[in-house]
Amino acid sequence: MIDQNTSELEISLLLEAVYHKYGYDFRQYSKAHIRRRIINRMILSGFEDISQMQTKLLRDEISAVQLLQDLSITVTEMFRDPGFYKSMRENVIPVLKTYPFIKIWHAGCSTGEEVYSMAIILQEEGLYDRTTIYATDFNQQALKRAKEGIFSDKTMKEYTVNYHLSGGKESFSRYYTSDYDNVIMNQTLKKNIVWANHNLVTDSVFAEVHLILCRNVLIYFDKSLQNKVQNLFYDSLINGGILCLGSKENLSSMDIFKEYKVMDKKHRIFKKKY
Ligand SMILES: C[S@@+](CC[C@H](N)C(=O)[O-])C[C@H]1O[C@@H](n2cnc3c(N)ncnc32)[C@H](O)[C@@H]1O
Repeated sequence: MIDQNTSELEISLLLEAVYHKYGYDFRQYSKAHIRRRIINRMILSGFEDISQMQTKLLRDEISAVQLLQDLSITVTEMFRDPGFYKSMRENVIPVLKTYPFIKIWHAGCSTGEEVYSMAIILQEEGLYDRTTIYATDFNQQALKRAKEGIFSDKTMKEYTVNYHLSGGKESFSRYYTSDYDNVIMNQTLKKNIVWANHNLVTDSVFAEVHLILCRNVLIYFDKSLQNKVQNLFYDSLINGGILCLGSKENLSSMDIFKEYKVMDKKHRIFKKKY
């Protein structure tokens, strides 16, 4: 039966089995998030109990990929939290301008909307040609969509508003071409983006990056995993490098906080101390 009796132990055993069989490690994700998504999948797939689900997962890789999709929330948008991007233009861009070349790591980039937003700002600020953006996620389907850069034209109205609220002065439609019900992002925005599969739990550091954006990803991790991933970011940044988190994510409760200077408290922008 699927209810509150689906115990923590059963869920832990299921996650343990998925990790050992497929290498996907959800063991330190937030318990509430995992529980919600697993129970949802059990209902959708008609499993009577968690052991039935586990048997299916271990015998059928497609079900495991489905679970990965279920546990990976890919909600995103262009210029999400416009105030954050305004602060990016005002506080972060001037620092990036001091470097002869720029490496940016966009971790947990989902379907790429935030990456294209960043590429637009860099182009407007005359920095794009000397920048490489490494955009990573562990969700292969999301990455495929990100790389295509094709989005529904219905979302463009909202994205146009976000763009202008973030300080954008151009006509937003110059960054894409329309194609029936979709828009395709310009090739000039894509050319310096390297899309790559990277799992924040099991993969290693990116060397010497100037800026890391990892927004709305760590909220799904438990405290100890958040600390581990923060160490990964710290090790990846150059001295003076900048870390940007999501509006519900804070560094102040993390062990590594003392190694950073707060650049913008409201928009969660931090600078690694020299
Ligand atoms: C809610 S989206 C955030 C997208 C974007 N950063 C934003 O703020 O709009 C969370 C993303 O984190 C990714 N993610 C979750 N766990 C991950 C992991 N262990 N390694 C890499 N990406 C992960 C998910 O696949 C998903 O695309």
